[in-house]
Amino acid sequence: PLVSPKEMFAKAYAGKYAVGAFNVNNMEIIQGIMTAGAEERSPLILQVSAGARKYAGQNYIMKLMEAALMETDLPVVLHLDHGQDLDICKQVIDGGFTSVMIDGSHHSFEENIRVTREVVEYAHERGVWVEAELGVLAGVEDEVSAEENIYTDPDQAVEFVERTGCDSLAIAIGTSHGAYKFKCEPKLDFERLEKITNLLPGYPLVLHGASSVLPEFVEMANAYGGQIAGACGVPEHLLRKAATHGVCKINIDTDIRLAMTAVIRKHFAEKPGDFDPRQYLSPARDAVRGMVRHKIRHVLGCSGA
Ligand code: G3H
Ligand code: 13P
Ligand code: ZN
Ligand code: NA
Repeated sequence: PLVSPKEMFAKAYAGKYAVGAFNVNNMEIIQGIMTAGAEERSPLILQVSAGARKYAGQNYIMKLMEAALMETDLPVVLHLDHGQDLDICKQVIDGGFTSVMIDGSHHSFEENIRVTREVVEYAHERGVWVEAELGVLAGVEDEVSAEENIYTDPDQAVEFVERTGCDSLAIAIGTSHGAYKFKCEPKLDFERLEKITNLLPGYPLVLHGASSVLPEFVEMANAYGGQIAGACGVPEHLLRKAATHGVCKINIDTDIRLAMTAVIRKHFAEKPGDFDPRQYLSPARDAVRGMVRHKIRHVLGCSGA
């Protein structure tokens, strides 16, 4: 069933694991993720960015989710990723999403509090969960891009949560969006994470930009004509560690994109005569399934949770 993250995160926090939040925008991605969740008996978060919502259309997203839910008894959250204002949050809340992110991280501290509070008021009256963000991740998300990370200040995080009433908080500790996360050594600021969890005990934290940029898929894409050079993600052991330190939601989009693209490139290189989309979308969907299953079992730790 479609659920709120409330109980899911309480269990994840206590059990020292995280739930994967996978970005979706079409049928094959949704099916790949749902099948992986079924195989691992795992809770799932499916999230939709503004761009994904525009691509597929909210009606299609809702109907695809309805179909997915007909075939499972697992708890599933439908979440808006990086909502930029009250307007889009209202639209998805009214449409049936159980969770929204209001991303005011590019605003000043006071303006971030103002826009977040506004969304919290609307959402909480309707029983919908609100994720907010404090700190800035380097990289690109929709139209917004940042040059540098601005790590989350632990004291400000406490004040932000108190003043906004947001239910979970995305923090900046060194991750970033996309396939090029680290210039040299991948590193997360665990000291900062621990300060935040000590100041906000039991409070669910969220890690964006958490794809590992799996070499298996980067190499496959490049072997078949891709030009994805110097790609680098968050090592899996760092994600596992974060999951034991208050991080309850780990966002993954880039790894889905890379898996599908690598497999489709390989398919066309090996079978240049194919032109039925089912011939290459089936293995692409299966690659998403396998990759998500690996995350659930070996990175997030939420198999059977
Ligand atoms: O944070 C960004 C997510 O990967 C969504 O990306 O805005 O291109 O759909 P998108
Ligand atoms: P990645 O680009 O690392 O997959 O991050 C996705 C994300 O944070 C979506 O909000
Ligand atoms: Zn993100
Ligand atoms: Na956790």
